[in-house]
Amino acid sequence: MKIKKFINKKNKTKIVALTAYSKNAASILDNYCDLILVGDSLGSVLYNYKSTREVSLNMMIEHSKSVRMGVKKALMVVDMPHNTYRNSREALKNAKKIMSKTKCDAVKLEGGKKIFEIIKTLVKNKIPVMGHLGLLPQSDKTFIFKGKKKSERDRIIKDAQLLEKAGVFSFVLECVETSLAKLVTQNIKVPTIGIGASKYCDGQILVLDDLIGLNPMNYRFVKKYTNIRKEISRAVSNYSKDVRKIKFPNKKNSF
Ligand code: KIV
Repeated sequence: MKIKKFINKKNKTKIVALTAYSKNAASILDNYCDLILVGDSLGSVLYNYKSTREVSLNMMIEHSKSVRMGVKKALMVVDMPHNTYRNSREALKNAKKIMSKTKCDAVKLEGGKKIFEIIKTLVKNKIPVMGHLGLLPQSDKTFIFKGKKKSERDRIIKDAQLLEKAGVFSFVLECVETSLAKLVTQNIKVPTIGIGASKYCDGQILVLDDLIGLNPMNYRFVKKYTNIRKEISRAVSNYSKDVRKIKFPNKKNSF
C-alpha cells in the first residue's frame, strides 16, 4: 500500500527523499520525507572508506535497525551492498535477511541489464525493489557525470526500460545529464529520484550530511541548507568553557 501510494505521486507532486544512517536523524527526516534511504554512502560518509564497495551486509543491517526506530511514516529503503547480489540466489537470501532483520519497506540495487533477472526474482518473491542508474558508485570508480556520450545515453534509456519491466517501483538517477534525466522520467511509469540529475526527475534525494553541512566537502549538485558544523562548534565551545569555569554542571543539573 505504501509503495502504491508512493508510485501514485508521479506527475502529481515532487517526491522528497534523503538518506539517514541512525534513529535520531531519521526521526526528524520522517516529518518531511516521502522516502528515507539507508544508503551505502555511509561507508564513505561515516567510515571514511574509499568506496562503497567496502560496506558489509552487517553494517547496513545494524544502521538500518537504528533508522527503523526513527521512521514511522516514510517509505524506508535499504541499499544492498556490493557483492551481496551477484546472482539471484544470493540476492534473494540477502534481501530476505535485510527485510526481516530491519523491517524496511524495500531494498535498492545498482545497475540495469546485468541485474535484470535478479530484480525479477526479488519482485517475484514479493520484495519491493528500487533501482539505481547513472553513476553507480559500487561498480564505477571514475565518478564521471553520465549521459554525455550517445552510447551511454542509449544504455541508460534501455536500462530504465528494463528496470521498469523487471518490476522496480522507482529508481535513482545519479549524476545524469539534464535532457537525458528528463527523457527517462517522461517515458517511464515509475517515479525517478534524482541526485545531480536535474529538476526534471519526479523527486530528489541527497545525503543528509551534505545538505546540513556536516560533511565539509562541497559538491555542485548539493545545496547546503545550514552549516551544522558551525552550530556544533558553537555548542561544544560553550560547553568546554562552562566545564573549565565550573559553570557546568550547576545546581539544576545536579542531584
Ligand atoms: O548510498 C546512497 O546514499 C545513495 C544515494 C546517493 C542515492 O545511493
